[in-house]
Amino acid sequence: MRKNIVAGNWKMNTTLAEGVGLAKDVNEALKGIDAKCDVVICVPFTHLASVAGVIDSKLGLGAENCADHLKGAYTGEVSAPMVASTGAKYVILGHSERRQYYGETSEILKTKVNLALEENLTPIFCIGEVLEERENGTFLDVVTKQIEEALFDLSAEDFGKLILAYEPVWAIGTGKTATADQAEEMHAHIRSVIAGKYGKEVADNCSILYGGSCKPSNAKELFEKPDVDGGLIGGAALDCASFMGIVTAF
Ligand code: PGA
Repeated sequence: MRKNIVAGNWKMNTTLAEGVGLAKDVNEALKGIDAKCDVVICVPFTHLASVAGVIDSKLGLGAENCADHLKGAYTGEVSAPMVASTGAKYVILGHSERRQYYGETSEILKTKVNLALEENLTPIFCIGEVLEERENGTFLDVVTKQIEEALFDLSAEDFGKLILAYEPVWAIGTGKTATADQAEEMHAHIRSVIAGKYGKEVADNCSILYGGSCKPSNAKELFEKPDVDGGLIGGAALDCASFMGIVTAF
């Protein structure tokens, strides 16, 4: 059956020393509890190898992106094999900030997903509508299209390796969380789209995380919904106590 997962997305925050300190704190805090979910931290590229050196296997490590090429003359890019060589096991792909600010299209994301899977990295693949699409009622179709375009060329076996994260763009970093019912409506929709393509078993086994202003005070209500399997946490992942407050919401 599908796993419950809480993953932190640190974005472009923390210096190396700060990041290693935060990773150590989360690692220690996890030792002290019997977590009912998998816990992952996705950190800047510059931090990956150092963080890998200070955490135990109980805490998963991921990158926030990877290149859409395997190697070569792509100045400034970081490839999936490079990410994997640090000890990271996960990679966030298709985050709305990448789509919005760096022009990442479904075509590019398709390539990134394939390169990540070749390195046995687990993609945490993000989807979600902008405010206008929420308000004009097209949000379910928008998310369907994001999934179809980037992921539906995958075999059922490869699709089964993904984690999905539904992140309504209007809720990211705004303090404005989707209600638990809004999240559940979308998560159930996503699961039915997956079932339509790959069958019920693949859909039932897929972990679908919610992201967007998730915090200790609203995590429990969100995670209680049947199709919400955890969270992708931005701001609240930068503070050990609040991140652990979300982890223990399960
Ligand atoms: P937030 O970010 O929790 O700060 O809203 C979530 C995300 O963008 O992954």
